[in-house]
Amino acid sequence: MRESYQDVYDSWKANPEGFWGAAAKDIHWFKAPESVFDPAQGTYGRWFAGGETNTCYNCIDRHIEAGRGAETAVIYDSPMTGQTARYSYDQVLTEVSAMAAVLRNHGVGKGDRVIIYMPMIPEAVFSMLACARIGAVHSVVFGGFAAHELATRIDDSGAKVVIGASCGLEPGRIVPYKPLLDQAIDMAKVKPDYCLILQREQYHAPLRYEHGDVDLAQAVEQEKINGSSIDCVAVAATDPLYILYTSGTTGQPKGVVRDNGGHMVALNWTMKNIYGVKPGEVFWAASDIGWVVGHSYIVYGPLLAGNATVVFEGKPVGTPDAGTFWRVVNDHDVKVLFTAPTAFRAIRRDDPEGEHVARYDLSGLRALFLAGERADPETLKWAERILKIPVIDHWWQTETGWAIAANPAGLGLLPVKHGSPTKPMPGYGLEVLDDAGHPVAPGTLGNIVAKLPLPPGCLVSFWNADERFRASCLEEFPGYYKTADAGVIDEDGYVFVMARTDDIINCAGHRLSTGAMEEVCAMHPDVAECAVIGIADELKGQIPCGLLVLKKNVHRDHKLISKEVVQLVRDEIGPVAAFKMVLMVDRLPKTRSGKILRGTMQKIADGLPWKMPATIDDPAILDEITAVLQAHGQVPVATKAAASA
Ligand code: COA
Ligand code: AMP
Repeated sequence: MRESYQDVYDSWKANPEGFWGAAAKDIHWFKAPESVFDPAQGTYGRWFAGGETNTCYNCIDRHIEAGRGAETAVIYDSPMTGQTARYSYDQVLTEVSAMAAVLRNHGVGKGDRVIIYMPMIPEAVFSMLACARIGAVHSVVFGGFAAHELATRIDDSGAKVVIGASCGLEPGRIVPYKPLLDQAIDMAKVKPDYCLILQREQYHAPLRYEHGDVDLAQAVEQEKINGSSIDCVAVAATDPLYILYTSGTTGQPKGVVRDNGGHMVALNWTMKNIYGVKPGEVFWAASDIGWVVGHSYIVYGPLLAGNATVVFEGKPVGTPDAGTFWRVVNDHDVKVLFTAPTAFRAIRRDDPEGEHVARYDLSGLRALFLAGERADPETLKWAERILKIPVIDHWWQTETGWAIAANPAGLGLLPVKHGSPTKPMPGYGLEVLDDAGHPVAPGTLGNIVAKLPLPPGCLVSFWNADERFRASCLEEFPGYYKTADAGVIDEDGYVFVMARTDDIINCAGHRLSTGAMEEVCAMHPDVAECAVIGIADELKGQIPCGLLVLKKNVHRDHKLISKEVVQLVRDEIGPVAAFKMVLMVDRLPKTRSGKILRGTMQKIADGLPWKMPATIDDPAILDEITAVLQAHGQVPVATKAAASA
């Protein structure tokens, strides 16, 4: 009989080490761990210390040795190019092994860092697995980031080699990646020894052989001809598998470090218990390998569990229409789909009655999982109505790598409360605390925190920055991990995640730092001061809006300055910042100690009730801001301060 959520959660709570120790039996170890959890190691303890394993072995070789080599592992579907391809586990092994040989030949060994800057193509997955095979640590950079962001990541990780593609494809345009990579390397202090470049037919990049550029496809082909086969290198369970940079409150991104052992144990557990998929079934996370969802559920989760995974190079709409997702589900017999709510808002906008659904056979699709941002109940109900399957909101972060709260399809679905990602998963002892660190009553808004230790699979620290990790995640609420999300746990134990408690915004399911954007705006010579806030947006959830105060002596055209600032953010951070709205204001509202009142401005912009902050220096400035936002059509009705707070 299937265990219920409550039984499973209670069994974890009663004996966390017994619980994860049992889950670890489903993973192959070259050397069994000496302890399930060692509280003395790392920043808050380490999982499976003393164990030796290899993530690539568990994702590929293990399934082949079990006789499943001919089964499909990777499905590439690109409405951008019109191509599809399927790779069996045997074929993936050939590709990964050859790629691992190329890395070895270019000096990459255990512990070396490799930056991967590639679009959604199978070679991106092979690159990640090839790094894992030889114990190298990959750091994938999303294609929508510009050269400066790439340079920051090359420097911080100390990358020895970069694997890149000549270009990415966005609707209606080719995005040449290689020139961005060249600029990044010119900017970076760390100079990688080699750049292994995959030339795509849509754009053939000039290679700078004198700087160590290598044609990747040729090198891989040569290794295949040589019949090179690279064995999996045994790494410590606690060794890093990857670094994934994510937005912090400043322009310096945080390098989230994931280990090998705990990561595999946790992800493997989730495939059966949260997503409810069986080996051999097709799982599709419509995200990008540049994000954590892509790492966990395009690459590692499905392959660890022996599923086929879909690498989709396209958009939910416009490639060619709002039926693309249903076409992919139909063509590849997808059993479980995972994407961000924003994708569904885009589909709904183009196809409000869900007419495209009827064109395809979706009878195999069992569940839709949503994450990356708050799933607004309207979109959720719409998805339920058109698909007629469970639509499951689940909450997680780059830091955790897997769901903190979910409705576990594999354990029997719990009743749905719209607006809630349901209940904490085993491993997460969630509480809601007030700002002083005291627990609040059920149903009261506060800081959502998770009792330490975090479960396997969560970040172990920030790359080369243990102190920053402690300061930003562990210190404010001693004994807990601070999620930096505000929310509520109700009397039934359901979690509601309402908003970030820091300056992070969520735009189209992408996590962006307003602090980083402010740093770029401030670089413009005409800007004296600025604030970037996230404003509610029907499609993307939130979009950034820059409020700029110009220097006194500046008399240039404001439109021109706005254009320059928008371009600056695009050049420095990248198009993914979606920074297009700039408003000129005379002054910014501040507290008497000089802190800019971003939260209050955001509430005004969103037409939400707000309170006049008791510590405000000059209340008249909020009227000025309201007027500017109204003139821009941003505030529907003049919202007035309730009472002083
Ligand atoms: N390489 C280069 N540029 C990219 C890129 C990539 N991999 N991804 C996005 N961009 C560009 C876009 O072309 C766009 O450029 P533009 O300003 O010139 O139009 C800009 O970055 C902003 O992208 P985005 O915010 O994604 O907007 P969009 O209009 O292109 O697409 C959605 C909107 C909703 C369709 C899209 O964001 C989406 O599918 N999101 C859901 C899935 C997802 O990615 N989730 C992530 C976590 S699960
Ligand atoms: P990222 O690290 O990019 O995955 O972004 C993590 C942040 O996205 C979280 O801290 C939340 O603020 C938000 N988020 C992700 N999933 C959800 C969800 N299901 N509900 C509400 N917010 C979410």
